[in-house]
Amino acid sequence: MSENKNLRPTSIIIFGATGDLAKRKLFPAFYNLYIDGRMPKGFTIIALGRAEHDDDYFRNYIKENLNEFSRKKVTSEDWAGFQAHIKYIQHQLDEQDSYKNLNEKLEKLDTVYGTRGNRLFYLSIGPNFVTVISNHLKNNNLASDSKKDRIIIEKPFGHDKQSAIELNALLAENFEEEQIYRIDHYLGKETVQNILAFRFGNSIFEPIWDCQHIESVQITVAEEVGVETRGSFYEQTGALRDMIQNHLLQILCMIAMEPPSSLEAGEIRDRKVDVLKSIRRISPEKVDHYAVRGQYGKAIINGAQVKGYRQEEGIAPDSNTETFAAVKFYLDNERWQKVPFYVRTGKKMQEKHSYITIQFKPLPNSTFSQSSQHLSANRLIINIQPMMDIRLQFMAKKPGLELDLKPVEMIFDNFACQENTPEAYETLLLDALIGDLTLFMRSDQVEEAWDVVKTIQETWENRKDSSLPNYEAGSWGPKDSFALPERQGHHWV
Ligand code: BG6
Repeated sequence: MSENKNLRPTSIIIFGATGDLAKRKLFPAFYNLYIDGRMPKGFTIIALGRAEHDDDYFRNYIKENLNEFSRKKVTSEDWAGFQAHIKYIQHQLDEQDSYKNLNEKLEKLDTVYGTRGNRLFYLSIGPNFVTVISNHLKNNNLASDSKKDRIIIEKPFGHDKQSAIELNALLAENFEEEQIYRIDHYLGKETVQNILAFRFGNSIFEPIWDCQHIESVQITVAEEVGVETRGSFYEQTGALRDMIQNHLLQILCMIAMEPPSSLEAGEIRDRKVDVLKSIRRISPEKVDHYAVRGQYGKAIINGAQVKGYRQEEGIAPDSNTETFAAVKFYLDNERWQKVPFYVRTGKKMQEKHSYITIQFKPLPNSTFSQSSQHLSANRLIINIQPMMDIRLQFMAKKPGLELDLKPVEMIFDNFACQENTPEAYETLLLDALIGDLTLFMRSDQVEEAWDVVKTIQETWENRKDSSLPNYEAGSWGPKDSFALPERQGHHWV
């Protein structure tokens, strides 16, 4: 097995190692990095969980899950090498002794490496535990070297602007900002990263990337799944907090940002913050005009009865939580004057499909305007998942004797280039091991993003919507969400 010689030995400590994220995403990501030779020469994954298990039991549990969730096949040879790096420690998140014990184990590992290695703490736990863990790490000097110790924090980062400010302040007391990796896994997705390459690595798109040429932008993240086993978490969260405040606004930033002067993390994060600051805030009276919420109701799909949100486990029978949200944003800056950015996301939609549509303006005075030809305006579609491609739609002549036009597509297909691309978590964990913060959120980004959705969030929370549930499971969302772009003669693509 090759290894990444540029990386220092690292102890990876996972809080919440018996949880869902660890089994579905984190261990598979580390395993795939390992078989691709991307892990450091010396590394140990210390899995922390409440229950009492021995290493063998935990390793077997991980192996079973890898068989299900790993991108690459698990072979006995690779597994034998990988499993030797995993250690399980019983740990109580709020008990001082647990941290003392952890400290001793980490110091022992440093002796094994012959040098104080890097430490990567992954907080894969509910938001309520971030404070207590962070304080214990600080008080026990577990993450005291700002150059070597890093802390990854999962979303949700706070539950509103105020709580995010407080959390940032607390983390700032315990760590340096350069140690804090606030993760938004959408930024690790291949197609989302490609936006940067596509926009700033070509000379033909940037000159037309503005309000002179673009009519509207749409971002859709549709999920086929419902809330599954996460009912009690989701009930307190809703689509606006769970998806729009982070994933969709981050995608919006990638589409709308000004060209960064370098690929340096600080520069790219600055440009993104500029976008968030420029998003016009929606006043409470205007929330209904700019935002639509929805909740899925029961339905019959393919002859089978499908539960509505209110029938799911852990959900109140009169729940006011939205499982769908659509918002129209405007950016008050020179580049995007008057260009609507429509974003929408929902659970239990007709299909899983995340994509961005850049709708260009129609030709002002077309050579074909006198003929019977119907010209479709150019459109660029970036498919994020499950398809991963970029499609440019334009008009071309139909082959034949007449000068008839038809819309055609030019496609860049990621799968055609590489079938098995790394998962978002592989990209992001490798960046954290390297110490590259570019794809992680800085404190001001998170706070601005909360500020963008603040009035919508407060209005929805304080006003019960008697129309909920207002879309059938398996549909494309509530009727009002279609009216949102239609008022301006636009349509969801
Ligand atoms: C998570 C949300 O951040 O993203 C989930 O909490 C959502 O509710 C998930 O299902 C979607 O991620 P992906 O990668 O499957 O699109």
